[in-house]
Amino acid sequence: MKLYSDRTFSIDTENAFKIGPHIDVVENLSGNVVKLNLGEPDFPVPTHIKDEIKRQLDLDNTHYCDPQGLLTLREAISNQISETRGIAVDPERVVVFPGGKPSIGLSQQVYCNPGDEVIYPSPGFPIYESFVRYVGAVPIPLHLNENSNFAFTPEALAKLINPKTKLIYLNFPSNPTGGVVSHKQLEDIAEVILERCSEEVRVYSDEIYENIVFDDQNHTSIASVSGMESRTIIASGFSKTYAWTGGRIGYALFPSREEASIFKNLNINYFSCVTPYNQEGARVALESHLSEKCIGNMVETFQVRRDAILKKLNSISGISCTKPGGAFYLFANISSVCNKLGLVDYYANLSSTDRAQTSPAGLFQMFALYYHNIAVLDRQSFGKIGSEGQHYIRLSIASDLTVLEDGINKLSDAGQDHSGIAKFLDSRPDLELS
Ligand SMILES: Cc1ncc(COP(=O)(O)O)c(C=O)c1O
Repeated sequence: MKLYSDRTFSIDTENAFKIGPHIDVVENLSGNVVKLNLGEPDFPVPTHIKDEIKRQLDLDNTHYCDPQGLLTLREAISNQISETRGIAVDPERVVVFPGGKPSIGLSQQVYCNPGDEVIYPSPGFPIYESFVRYVGAVPIPLHLNENSNFAFTPEALAKLINPKTKLIYLNFPSNPTGGVVSHKQLEDIAEVILERCSEEVRVYSDEIYENIVFDDQNHTSIASVSGMESRTIIASGFSKTYAWTGGRIGYALFPSREEASIFKNLNINYFSCVTPYNQEGARVALESHLSEKCIGNMVETFQVRRDAILKKLNSISGISCTKPGGAFYLFANISSVCNKLGLVDYYANLSSTDRAQTSPAGLFQMFALYYHNIAVLDRQSFGKIGSEGQHYIRLSIASDLTVLEDGINKLSDAGQDHSGIAKFLDSRPDLELS
């Protein structure tokens, strides 16, 4: 008899969290690591939100509450979605979750039977791919290419849709590419979905970066396209917009009350309810006029950093990076660095078992960390299936400009360190930690 169920090892992970122990090892060995791996804004939670949380604690709002989410918060969410997406929203269609993440996997549990197909962007947030095999479904990556600025064409999506398609993830602004879309592009995508998918196919529109959009562009949702509201789950949360990753508040708007009640029951089964005093803080985040200024300052800061760091990154020989329209990441092409450092050849000569554990960009990521004290994430951290031959790293710009510049200098040094890479590949210190 085996200890673990067969499904246990079919779930993947999020490397942003897994790299932490490696960073600890390096910091113990050789001091500070510049951490450009993190997906969280480097801003404090706005004061008016913190004040409300404290006030709620003093009111002893610390008990079990509605598993669907406090009605006060669901009403605030409904109003915000109505205003920003131009659709009428019933709070009974809204469910609150502990973060933006849980509804990703729960949606696969709710909508997919074994054998159903799940389409998701790759590179994309790793949790979309991570869950698919765990629920017995089939992962169908929708590859985003640098040549087309990491957008995808309606035709590319159309080719992946068939009668087994059950769930389609979209994520704009996107992690890790920072890609955004126009309303016209969403209309074209919607046309394909409306034409090819039955009404039971759900679009999971992950809009968690909805407020972090640059160059005076506006966020737009596929749910606003005529005919799409009844097929779309709008998911968002408070982690990114309010720099509140530890608050663990996210939400989703479902097409029907019935679907919302099914997710509510999963909440009851998994965690009962979401921390009520934080939910009231989240309500204030949405309702207070003070939030707009805080968000505006943060986005402006990200845009200044994006422009400065993009320029610096693109001036490094062997690295090139497209301009992201939103979120707070740069997704840089390091093909030339991987080739020059011999990582592509080294990788090709590994056994198939060892190759399955890494990639040329993954080797560079670990080399840069262990030998140059700079933490970034490799391409495979954003979906593994079909990512062979793609050599990219993601850098978060959620740090001060001086820290970011230091990090870019370190990356540049790593990209030219031929003697260092030879030593690294000889000793592979990253393998000592499983
Ligand atoms: C695209 C995307 N969706 C969801 C999440 C999860 O957010 P949360 O921390 O609120 O669970 C993240 C976090 O990085 C993300 O990038």
